[in-house]
Amino acid sequence: MMKPRVLITYNIYREVYHEVLKDFEIIMPAEGIETFKYEDVLPVVDSFDAILSMWNFPIDKQLLDAAKRLKIVSNYAVGYDNIDVVYATRCGVTVANTPDPVTDPTADIAMGLMLSLMRRIVDCDRQLREKKLEWGIMNNLGTSLSGKQLGILGMGRIGKALARRALACGMNIAYYNRNRLSAIDEKLYNAKYMSLDELVATSDVLSLNAPLTSETYHIIDAKRLSEMKPDAFLINTARGPLVDEKALIEALRNGVIKGAGLDVFETGDRVCDELLALPNTVLVPHVGTQTVEVRREMAEFAATNILNFFNGGRVARVNKL
Ligand code: GLV
Repeated sequence: MMKPRVLITYNIYREVYHEVLKDFEIIMPAEGIETFKYEDVLPVVDSFDAILSMWNFPIDKQLLDAAKRLKIVSNYAVGYDNIDVVYATRCGVTVANTPDPVTDPTADIAMGLMLSLMRRIVDCDRQLREKKLEWGIMNNLGTSLSGKQLGILGMGRIGKALARRALACGMNIAYYNRNRLSAIDEKLYNAKYMSLDELVATSDVLSLNAPLTSETYHIIDAKRLSEMKPDAFLINTARGPLVDEKALIEALRNGVIKGAGLDVFETGDRVCDELLALPNTVLVPHVGTQTVEVRREMAEFAATNILNFFNGGRVARVNKL
């Protein structure tokens, strides 16, 4: 029998991919080349049974139409907004992602952004290095986490992992989710279910932990920002376009909210100068899952999705065919 052919778009963990998929034919960028480009893949995609895609590689209608043999796309990420899942489903293509390895590290980064912002860790560090910091008992006052309401928009696996961390810091958990949690889960996380409007208006910290879809695009816009408390903080470790970034910049400039901790940006792999100039932000370059351990685990998980798809094991499926 012919070995299934797998196209891997991004050149990392060659040894992991070759180990997990040893009975497959693997095509990935040559040593020294970081990634395949869309234009490289489109003309040859019809000869592949599987694609292991990086989260910023578009799997769109055009590519899916051309991919006549394709059976599975396994995305190296929990997010899959780079993939036209509706069309993939229509084409009979399974879409899979990597939820298990990314849950804890993404919640860690959300917690870290919250702590850095509220306790002014990054702000003090920066001022110290710039020799601008004024020491003093009443200087550099931060905001306590304990007793504050953390509003979690998107109470899936990452939202829940964040709730566990925030509970340890004495925060009160409120959440909004498309589907309300079971009574048992609400008890477990001591979490109060709210409408989105109430969550936005009452939270001291609002953390975005929902996927990017047509419903969540700009879910935090100028109107919602104006409904937040003036001393509230916004944390985004999900996807940049959940927030209208221009509106956020205005809100941060004008004291509409107190601060923002961001791992993701509307501009993709770049931070705009306006955000960089704002002292009430903590900014990191999409590192929610960027640890030595997790990067490798994601590679193993994404490859195992493909292995199991062909061998009948567990696949972390995003769509039902
Ligand atoms: C990272 O952004 C992911 O979606 O896993």
